[in-house]
Amino acid sequence: MSSYLAFLREDWQEFKREEQVALWTTYVVVLVLIWLWAPTALYLCIGGLCYLAFRRWMIGARCRSNATLEGKTAVVTGGNCGIGREAALELSRRGARVIIASRDVGKSRLAAAGIRSETGGEVIVKQLDLGSLQSVRAFADDVNKTEEKVHLLVNNAGCLLPTRRTTGDGHETTFQVNYLAPFLLTHLLTDKLVRSAPARVINVSSTGHWFTDLDLNDLECERKPYALWTRYGTSKLAQILHARELARRLRQRSVTAFSLHPGVVNTDIYREQRGKWYHSEFLKGVLFSYFFRNARMGAQTVVYCAVEPTLTAESGGYYSDCRRGWASAQAQDDQLAAKLWAASEKMLGLE
Ligand SMILES: NC(=O)c1ccc[n+]([C@@H]2O[C@H](COP(=O)([O-])OP(=O)(O)OC[C@H]3O[C@@H](n4cnc5c(N)ncnc54)[C@H](OP(=O)(O)O)[C@@H]3O)[C@@H](O)[C@H]2O)c1
Repeated sequence: MSSYLAFLREDWQEFKREEQVALWTTYVVVLVLIWLWAPTALYLCIGGLCYLAFRRWMIGARCRSNATLEGKTAVVTGGNCGIGREAALELSRRGARVIIASRDVGKSRLAAAGIRSETGGEVIVKQLDLGSLQSVRAFADDVNKTEEKVHLLVNNAGCLLPTRRTTGDGHETTFQVNYLAPFLLTHLLTDKLVRSAPARVINVSSTGHWFTDLDLNDLECERKPYALWTRYGTSKLAQILHARELARRLRQRSVTAFSLHPGVVNTDIYREQRGKWYHSEFLKGVLFSYFFRNARMGAQTVVYCAVEPTLTAESGGYYSDCRRGWASAQAQDDQLAAKLWAASEKMLGLE
C-alpha cells in the first residue's frame, strides 16, 4: 500500500503546478457544491477525473529499474535538448560517462554543464552533424581513437521537416538524419561496441511508423510526393527494422539492440514548422504543455531500454511506456529488415 501511494505521489509530481492548483480548487468547489447539493458538482467531478485519467495516461510509465552504469560510457546523439538531454542526465545520474553528440556544440556545452552540475558526472561534448556523412565518419573516428569502450549508443537525434530537402551527400534529409546516418554511425562503432560487450544500441523511433510503409524502390522519396508525417514515419520504421536486424546479426556477440516510442513529448521537434498553426505559442504553451508528457518522462523508455537487465533476452524488440510496444506488421518483417540493411549498405557504399 505504501509503495502504491509513493507511486501515485511520484506521478502527481509530473502534473504542472497550475494543474495541481486547478484540480485542488475544483475539488474544494465540488465539496462545497456537494454540501449545497448542486448537480454542477457532478459535472466538475467527472470532468476533473477524466482530465486526471487522460493526463496520467499521457505522462506514461517511469523506468523502475535501479540499475547503475558505473564504469560505462554512453553516446547520446541529440543529447543537448529534449528527450536526449533528459536521457543523458539520467544515464549520468546512474554513473555513466556520457558523450553528447550533436550539431550545435555551444548548446551541447550548456547542456553538459547543466548535467554535470546536477549529477557531478563526466559529460563530454563532441560535434556530430547527421546531415553530413563526412561528419559521421569524423565523429566515429574520433570516438574509436579516444574512447577505450562504448557500452551504450543512443541514436536519439532526429528531425521533422515540412518540405523535401537533400543533404550535401545527395540523400533526402529526413531519411538521412533519422535513419541512414545513424545506421552508418552504428556500423562504424560496431567493433568498439563488440569489444565493450555487453553493450546496447537504442534507436529512438516513434509510433509514427504505423502511418506509413517502407518502399524499398523509393527510399529517397523521389517517386511519391513528399509528406511530412509519412516521410518521418518511414524513417522511424527504418529505425525499428535496423534495430531488429542489428540484434539478429550481433546476437552471438553480446550486443543487444532495441527501438522505442518515447511518447508524445513537449519538445522542440516541431521547430521547422515555426509559423504553422500547430506550432503557435498558444498550442505549445497550453495544449502541448498540459496534455503532452514532458521531456523527463519522454526519456523514461530510453533509460529503460538502456538499463533494464531483463531486456537482454529480448534483443530486437520495440518498446513503449517501459514495456513491449505494438509495432506494425512491416516493422516486424525480418525479410524486409534484411533487405533494408542491404539497401542501406549499398547507399552508403559499405558493401
Ligand atoms: N517529441 C515527440 O513527441 C517525439 C515522439 C516520437 C519520437 N520522437 C523522437 O525523439 C527523438 C528526440 O526528439 P525530441 O522530441 O527530443 O526533439 P528535439 O528537442 O528537437 O531534439 C532533437 C535533437 O536532434 C538533434 N538533431 C537534429 N538534427 C540533427 C542533425 N542533423 N545532426 C545531429 N543532431 C541533430 C538536435 O540537435 P541540435 O539542437 O544541435 O539541432 C536535438 O538535439 C527524435 O528522434 C524524435 O523523432 C519524438
